[in-house]
Amino acid sequence: MSGSAPGSTAKIVVTGRIPDSGLEILRAAGDVWAWTDDEPIPTDVRDAQLADADVAVTLLTDTVDDAFLAAAPELRMVANVAVGYNNVDVAACTARGVTVTNTPGVLTDATADLAMGLLLMVTRRLGEGERLIRSATPWKWGMFMMLGTGVQGRRLGIIGMGAIGEAMATRAAAFGMEIVYHNRSAVDAATEERLGASLVTLEELLSTSDVVSLNCPYSESTHHLIDAAALASMRSDAFLINTARGPIVDEAALVDALRNDTIAGAGLDVFENEPTVHPGLIELDNAVIVPHLGSATVETRGAMADLAANNVAAVLAGDAPLTAVN
Ligand code: DGY
Repeated sequence: MSGSAPGSTAKIVVTGRIPDSGLEILRAAGDVWAWTDDEPIPTDVRDAQLADADVAVTLLTDTVDDAFLAAAPELRMVANVAVGYNNVDVAACTARGVTVTNTPGVLTDATADLAMGLLLMVTRRLGEGERLIRSATPWKWGMFMMLGTGVQGRRLGIIGMGAIGEAMATRAAAFGMEIVYHNRSAVDAATEERLGASLVTLEELLSTSDVVSLNCPYSESTHHLIDAAALASMRSDAFLINTARGPIVDEAALVDALRNDTIAGAGLDVFENEPTVHPGLIELDNAVIVPHLGSATVETRGAMADLAANNVAAVLAGDAPLTAVN
């Protein structure tokens, strides 16, 4: 942990470890106090530092709610180092005149790569295959051994056609998949044509897709969007991929659906109660589960920290934030 007392320049509190390049940008913009342990910052330590903070740089594991804001009466800005900002009560920030920023764009490719990786892992049973060898189970090549599902010519249904959804569609189209999507509005005609993608209702997407990929933000309206009824409306040979946010899926209902062969499998990067994972998922061979690694590359995490820091630098210099949420 390191810190410096606020002087005449703005005090910037960084609530968790971020890459050094981001810290350097922040240090050029103000007085930085940064929590540098891997363990989460204790609330009393955080609140003591927030008491005279002008800016908070937060991670997706921070909850920026009324209690957080009450501890920070001078706060002018929350720079969340994530594209998702469901951890931030944006309305409460806006009501207090606090600017909120996020980090869109820089993690699009990394997250879409991970989503495509999960799609391939679960359809081709790669986790199962790895577990087989690691458990020293005797095996030999067999014509019918561990057959998976080919993706070419299969339909991918993307829920949420923002930047990450579109990047996922680009990858899947290159693998020969047909793309349908559900979104508040249609993407532009040139993008639809490039991807061979068409806008469909949620019902049509769920009932006709071989793979359903969740790429929408988490909000009240997407809470448990994929519940028992939605899972029941999917094909029994379909797969679900979630790299968005865990609570979009009713995890208990998903465990039932995977157990009862209501759907064929799931590839999950995010969980309803992170870091807890439903024990049913851990037991199931048709679930591929990884620990929220969507943006976890050295390059991407550096770019996320830099973008968050550049947002702070812009606001402290009196300029408009680069990627404002409110
Ligand atoms: C985000 O930025 O919202 C991602 O979930 C981080 O991996």
